Amino acid sequence: MHLHKYEKIWLISGISALILFLTILGFGAFYLGTHPQSHGVIIDPGNIEANEAFQTENLGLTKVEDDKYIVNIVATAFNYDLGVDDEGKPVKNIKIPKGATVLFQVVTPDVVHGFNIAGTNVNMMVEPGFISSIETEMNQAGEFTLLCNEYCGVGHHMMFATVEVYE
Ligand code: CUA
Repeated sequence: MHLHKYEKIWLISGISALILFLTILGFGAFYLGTHPQSHGVIIDPGNIEANEAFQTENLGLTKVEDDKYIVNIVATAFNYDLGVDDEGKPVKNIKIPKGATVLFQVVTPDVVHGFNIAGTNVNMMVEPGFISSIETEMNQAGEFTLLCNEYCGVGHHMMFATVEVYE
């Protein structure tokens, strides 16, 4: 089979581009650990309390075992419900020891929200009807801002909290 010179150049550049893109995708997925946030786990947005994890008393930070935590959150316009403290005040700051593995599980009963812990790899879309979850290791100490990065209405800019990773 005879291939014209230009056709060969075109084929080689096309195949090279494909290999390059797959390499970039593979690097992001397997080395950087970037994955879709949910595995299509569904929940009735009109009755999120039917799921034990999202009942009022189970919201916020829970220690599961040494260096293992779960954070359950209900995102609503325009607030992240992280439970209440001992005095009954809404929690706006969660403290996690450095190196801990944390599973964040977030749902919303109303509209699409974002869930981004700036400066970490935690960045999810929270959609009504789905449980968005991500497990990550908090390896960097510091104070991080948890914020909504999907426009959700007039109070969008007020939707934030802080995550403190201490040594
Ligand atoms: Cu919630 Cu923007």
